[in-house]
Amino acid sequence: MLNVDKIRADFPLFTHHPDLIYLDNAATSQKPKVVIKALTDFYERSNANVHRGIYALSEMASAAYEAARSKVAKFIGATSASEIIFTKGTTDGLNLVAQSYGLANLQAGDEVLVADFEHHSNFLPWQKVCQLTGAKLKFFGSDASGFISKEEWQKKLNQKTKIVAIAHASNVLGTITDIKKIAKLVHAVGAVLVVDAAQAAPHLAVDVKDLDCDFYTFSGHKMLAPMGIGVLYAKEKILEVMSPYQLGGGMIESVSEQEVIFAVSPEKFEAGTPHVAGAIALAAAIDYLQEVGLAKIRAHEIALSERLLSGLAKNKRVKLLGEAQASERTGLVSFHVDGVHAHDLSDYLAKNNLALRAGFHCSEPLHQSRSCGATLRASYYLYNTEAEIDTLLEKLEEAINYYE
Ligand SMILES: Cc1ncc(COP(=O)(O)O)c(C=O)c1O
Repeated sequence: MLNVDKIRADFPLFTHHPDLIYLDNAATSQKPKVVIKALTDFYERSNANVHRGIYALSEMASAAYEAARSKVAKFIGATSASEIIFTKGTTDGLNLVAQSYGLANLQAGDEVLVADFEHHSNFLPWQKVCQLTGAKLKFFGSDASGFISKEEWQKKLNQKTKIVAIAHASNVLGTITDIKKIAKLVHAVGAVLVVDAAQAAPHLAVDVKDLDCDFYTFSGHKMLAPMGIGVLYAKEKILEVMSPYQLGGGMIESVSEQEVIFAVSPEKFEAGTPHVAGAIALAAAIDYLQEVGLAKIRAHEIALSERLLSGLAKNKRVKLLGEAQASERTGLVSFHVDGVHAHDLSDYLAKNNLALRAGFHCSEPLHQSRSCGATLRASYYLYNTEAEIDTLLEKLEEAINYYE
């Protein structure tokens, strides 16, 4: 069991907003003191650019930055730290893969497959690359719970498929996709598997080697770390032959007026000054999550999902968008209410200190495929309590009655 009171005390935001019920963790999480301290410590004690200076301060900053990379590698089970590229976040990671791998490996007649539940970040980069190369972008349809059937896989996946890009967990349905199973299907047709882990890495213990995906990308800010730092993992053999799409300082072996030899990975993919403090603070966030215990956090989220799902089921006007069981989803539930707009509900809830997201959650095709308008999304994390879920259910009932 988590000691939620103790955990909440680690998050200064809750001291400044004691009445806030923060249920928008899928958008971004709050930050514990240790993460904020890692950021300020870097700027107060170690600030220098990395891999550029041969003086002690720069070497100290470089060592801390590389130690953060090794921590991330270990956290997700990568074979080596050189498979970890620091990015701005998931969007940046997916654009990197689309521009660097996609552009170089797609041509007219090829197909890229994504699911109907993708965040815009995991299909707009593919849409663009398909437009540029003449490849075709196709969508898997998912069932009411957010699972893709065996028949759908058989129907859509074929020898023309070159890339499958899919969310490990949907930011609207919450549903967790079985990446390990999918990797086998994708590799059997010779395609690569790109995983958008924005909603998975903060919640699930991950081993990329075991999943056998080719690319795995996530954002620090959804897992207690600062905004502006993210991770792209890719298999070493792919990174070795992949070209960078951003060029500049810090990523070359040698350069002349007409030619360049790039450095090896990961430097090759990190042109310009990286978010050094962010990477170090991400390492602090990983330490914090591991100290609390990922398994305990997961059990806590499942308990909160069960409570919320059973509470919502009592009102027949509440319709879930995503019918997965608590154990099949990460810590979020999306829903709408017959006859009341999600923005009105969210407004009422906000006036009662409840912070939830309302709208399409950057997944418009999903809402279109479900013929559904805007939805409300409650997303929780290690510091949320059962009492907060109960308040949400109580205030939601009030809001529904109010707008009747
Ligand atoms: C599933 C999913 N993919 C991608 C993103 C984009 O993440 P970021 O804005 O951190 O780049 C999000 C953000 O909500 C997400 O939920």
